[in-house]
Amino acid sequence: MKFFVDTADVKDIRELNDMGLIDGVTTNPSLILKAGRDIKEVTKEICDIVSGPVSAEVTAVDYAEIMREAAVLAKIADNICIKLPLTLDGLKACKALTSDGHKTNVTLCFSATQALLAAKAGATFISPFIGRLDDMGFDGMELIAEIRTIYDNYDFDTEILAASIRTVDHVKRAALIGADVATVPPATLKALVKHPLTDKGLEQFLADWAKTGQKIG
Ligand code: G3P
Repeated sequence: MKFFVDTADVKDIRELNDMGLIDGVTTNPSLILKAGRDIKEVTKEICDIVSGPVSAEVTAVDYAEIMREAAVLAKIADNICIKLPLTLDGLKACKALTSDGHKTNVTLCFSATQALLAAKAGATFISPFIGRLDDMGFDGMELIAEIRTIYDNYDFDTEILAASIRTVDHVKRAALIGADVATVPPATLKALVKHPLTDKGLEQFLADWAKTGQKIG
């Protein structure tokens, strides 16, 4: 499973990239707002740090305007992945951009049939939002499972990018189902390493080691 980090915070991206933990980055208008930076400037900086795909989202809703914004975003760097809304205009843009050799990420997916359309439009990634479905009382993970089955039934190449991930358990369940990628907020990504028995075991080893009076090297 590939990990993308879901943020536009350059400091967090640099730290996680230096740890070798991330294969790409996803951003969206809300994350750009949170970062408080100019979209083109911060996206360029992110693309210089991470070699994998960096999703940058269009904010237009009609086809012509989406294509105009996509051309601007695509010029930022070679590893830009154009993020598009799951609408008819977004899907039409997805088809055109993919045919033109661009990577695409179709976002705001909340149903398996939407994911089917995105695959038919040639999306590189489909982003089903797990946490936001959970918030509404549904099981977001069921959507990931349905999309996995449909994509496997028809050998679609579109990668399932599990998004709106809020917990360590979301990451585990998405991996068990076979999502290709999880885009995870920095804090949740770091929380994956945590286990109380690891902390307890390390504490014990260090205490026993101190009693030996030895030093390595
Ligand atoms: O990148 C989009 C997605 O991950 C947003 O997550 O927590 O705002 O639902 P969230």
